[in-house]
Amino acid sequence: MHPLVQRRALLAKRFPETPVLLFNGSERPRNYPGNPYPFRPDSHFLYFCGVLPPGAVVVLDGGEAHLFMEPVTRDEAVWSGPGPDWAELERALQARIHPRMELEAFLDGLGRSRLATLPSQDPAAAAEQSRLLGRRVDLEGDSPDGLLARAVIELRLRHDPAAREELRRVCAVTVQAHLDGMAATRVGGDEAEVLAAMMSACLRQGFGTSFQPIITVSGERLHQPHVGGLLREGDLLLADFGAEAATGWAGDVTNTWPVSGTYTPRQRDVYSVVLEAHRRAAARVQPGARYREVHLEACRATAEGLVDLGLLKGDPEDLVERDAHALFFPHGIGHLMGLDVHDMEDLGDRAGYAPGRTRSTRFGLRWLRLDRDLEEGFAVTIEPGFYWIPELLEDPGRRQAYADCVDWDQVERFREVRGIRIERDYLVTDSGHELLTPGLPDEPEAVEAAVGGRS
Ligand code: GLY
Ligand code: MN
Ligand code: MN
Repeated sequence: MHPLVQRRALLAKRFPETPVLLFNGSERPRNYPGNPYPFRPDSHFLYFCGVLPPGAVVVLDGGEAHLFMEPVTRDEAVWSGPGPDWAELERALQARIHPRMELEAFLDGLGRSRLATLPSQDPAAAAEQSRLLGRRVDLEGDSPDGLLARAVIELRLRHDPAAREELRRVCAVTVQAHLDGMAATRVGGDEAEVLAAMMSACLRQGFGTSFQPIITVSGERLHQPHVGGLLREGDLLLADFGAEAATGWAGDVTNTWPVSGTYTPRQRDVYSVVLEAHRRAAARVQPGARYREVHLEACRATAEGLVDLGLLKGDPEDLVERDAHALFFPHGIGHLMGLDVHDMEDLGDRAGYAPGRTRSTRFGLRWLRLDRDLEEGFAVTIEPGFYWIPELLEDPGRRQAYADCVDWDQVERFREVRGIRIERDYLVTDSGHELLTPGLPDEPEAVEAAVGGRS
């Protein structure tokens, strides 16, 4: 059976009574309507219907899919071509296709009050959704939308064979992009040259990017949006970059390499701590493991490493309980992956947190995006880091709160490290996990050897 048809059948089984309305979104104008941003369809729509032109709507009704699309006029075809052949699409997607103008009458026939839906991120689609339903999307409790969200989450959490193939494909391109980025790095160059090499690896193979790339020597800025700074001797370059397939599936990898091809001794020491935290966390990725425990294992490894380097003082277990590690590693160990780089984060914490679990407010846990018991078929990232963030490490309140367990003089000596993260993508298997992003250098010597600036 076609994977999209199979997914619809599985949804109909889990969610049998209620017809489902989903939008793929519209083209958003950059500055005027004739100059739109590249179109990125809604992920729930992609999951059940694949890639279709903007403005498509689907009604999933008891295993049947009714697609509503704008016919391409002759005038439009002059500029953009005739669009997909509907008869062919109906066969390929095993769906009925109707002109978009018939949607309202179709919904009246079904009974609009019976419909369930999920939130559209596209403002125009969201407005139309509310108008058609005569209400806002409501994911709370056992509302129809809330029950639909739960059913979709259960399906999308465990990736089916077609999704796994897509993830392997997009991760392979992501790996190539990182290798090309390392090779393009040189003292005297700039961040934009590295980004260009990484983008080229994607574009050449028909891929885009799954989020705004972070390519920066300011690795302590967790979401540094600017690219273009100079690459100097002694800098570390942090590259957080993921490819996105035309089908929407996402990769997400971070590497941190020395611009000159050689880590300074302190950079190497901290890199080794982050690598050990990564390895210890990844070793726990298996069915039944609680992801919060995976996070805490990385926190313990980080605390142990920082005690060895003299930045922290005391028993690593106690340090983690006091969230002292979070001064240097304030974010979570990772997140779900799939059609979204943070998969299904449009549904809030409903996908990331198991029913009955909620986010902690603790400094060391509040940015943890995932707290489920892992199951076969989940895809997750593992991405520990170390950051010298002035807003945390120069904050007088925190300095006082952690006065007894931090050697602040020693911390100052590590300022030059700025930011290091090592991120890889994993698929949970029956017996443990599959590394979705093989082929990248991890050991410091292997990373150094991959950097172009070395030669
Ligand atoms: N690239 C975003 C993240 O690593 O979560
Ligand atoms: Mn990332
Ligand atoms: Mn990530």
